[in-house]
Amino acid sequence: MNIASNRKPKHLAVIMDGNGRWAKLRGLPRVEGHRQGMKAVKTCILSCLDLKIPYLTLYAFSLENWERPFREVRFLMKLLQTYARRERDFFHKKGVRVRVIGDFEKLPTIVRRELQEVINLTRDNTKLELQLALSYGGRNEILRAVERLVDARESGKSAKEVLTEEYFSSFLDTADLPDPDLVIRTSGEHRVSNFLLWQIAYSELYFTERLWPEFDRIELEKAIQSFGARSRRFGKVEFSQDLSSQTG
Ligand code: FPP
Repeated sequence: MNIASNRKPKHLAVIMDGNGRWAKLRGLPRVEGHRQGMKAVKTCILSCLDLKIPYLTLYAFSLENWERPFREVRFLMKLLQTYARRERDFFHKKGVRVRVIGDFEKLPTIVRRELQEVINLTRDNTKLELQLALSYGGRNEILRAVERLVDARESGKSAKEVLTEEYFSSFLDTADLPDPDLVIRTSGEHRVSNFLLWQIAYSELYFTERLWPEFDRIELEKAIQSFGARSRRFGKVEFSQDLSSQTG
């Protein structure tokens, strides 16, 4: 696929939905869907590297997902733990910087330890910045940001003096990342499910019926093509429609 770089998202964020349904349709246990979903994760990362998309954020486990049956949660945590260990060298070799956004402390110690190893090993890599949203909720992220902001506030300064969108953003888990340009959600659901609520204010949204384990390079290219054909105005008007530009 040859798409001009100004037509490609710089930051792609994905709500990977439909693992359970993929498994159910095949008469398999739900956890098989997650196992297959991991393969789609790898395809997605490799595609982003190849397409030179520099930021990728994957919604892998929401705060609400803790409420799933104990066995499924335990399976997902184990999957994550082995994933972090197994893929560590792959990430490093490919120049991927891995980070975690979300309520990290809620993850089991062993999972945190494995993830921290990958984070430390890959911290200077620059080809692709991969954010894994784990134990993540958008409202929770905003609340944690407020907490950090209040703790950091210099005494004597009023909230009004310090509060700008830019300053507030610097307390979010995504502090030094650009906002997502494109959010993809698989599996036919049309909602954002508490994902990056602050950051997606002007993101383009793309929904596909495909279930996450079936989301491959071709599907990703379709989404990018759709993104490239859109006119992003950020609440303004397009240059050609701007009458003031014709008066000079
Ligand atoms: C949503 O499908 C998927 C999840 C809650 C987990 C996503 C996990 C993976 C893709 C594998 C692990 C990923 C990494 C990065 C290690 P669902 O279970 O909600 O599907 P359903 O809506 O059909 O039930």
